[in-house]
Amino acid sequence: MRTLRLLLEIAKAGGHMAPVKFTAQQLARLTGSPQSTVARWLAVLEREGLVKRKPGQRGQQLRLTSKGLAALRSIHTELEAVFNKRPRTIEFVGEVVSGLGEGGYYLRQPMYLDQFKRQLGFTPYPGTLNVRLNGSSLEVREFLEQLPGKVIKGFTTPERTFGDVRCFPARIGKIEAALVLPARSSHKEVVELIAREKLRDVLHLKDGDRVKLEVMV
Ligand code: CDP
Repeated sequence: MRTLRLLLEIAKAGGHMAPVKFTAQQLARLTGSPQSTVARWLAVLEREGLVKRKPGQRGQQLRLTSKGLAALRSIHTELEAVFNKRPRTIEFVGEVVSGLGEGGYYLRQPMYLDQFKRQLGFTPYPGTLNVRLNGSSLEVREFLEQLPGKVIKGFTTPERTFGDVRCFPARIGKIEAALVLPARSSHKEVVELIAREKLRDVLHLKDGDRVKLEVMV
C-alpha cells in the first residue's frame, strides 16, 4: 500500500511523463514515512522495474517506467469498476404486517394519486401493503435512502400539509408495484408497497407471510 502511495506521488508530480526531482525529505513528507523506509521502497520499485532512478545533486530524479504506469492504470480501471457499479435491482426480504389503516387515506389524495399515475404508469389501489424488513434488508434500506428515486411532491390543503414522498418501481412476485418512502419516515423497519392490484388478494397474502421484493434503483 505504501509503495503504491509512492508510485502515486511520483505520478502526481508528473513523473509518469518525464523525470521529476525529489529530495529525500519531500518523499518522506509525501508518504508519511521515514527517509530510510522510503529509500528501501524505492529500491524495491526499481528492482521490480516500476520506477527509474537517477541520483542527482540534492535528491534524485524519479520517473515511472511504462510498467509502473501500466500498474497504476490497471488500479485505476479496477477502482472505476468498483465505484461505478450500482446494482440495478436490490432485494428486500420481510414479512407482511398490518398498519394503522392510513395508507388508503394518503393514496386517495388526488394530488398524490395523479403524480403516482404519471410517474409509475398505473393507478394504485388505495392502500399500502406493509412489509417488516428482516436484519440484512434493513441495511439495504439505508442504501436506498441515499438514492433519488422518483419524487412525488408534497402539497398543502386547507386542512393540512402533505410531505414529499419518494417511490421506486418494484416487483413482488410477478406483480408490478412500487416501494414508497415518505421523506420523513420513522418506522425504518417497515416499508410500504403500492400496486394496481390489492396484493393481499392476488398473492393470497396474510400477516406473517414472508415476501421478497425486487426494487429497481
Ligand atoms: O391497514 P394498513 O395500514 O395495513 O393498510 P391500508 O394502507 O389501509 O390498506 C388496506 C389493506 O389493503 C391492508 O390490508 C393492506 O395490506 C392491503 N393492500 C394490499 O393488499 N395491496 C395493496 N396494493 C395495497 C394495500
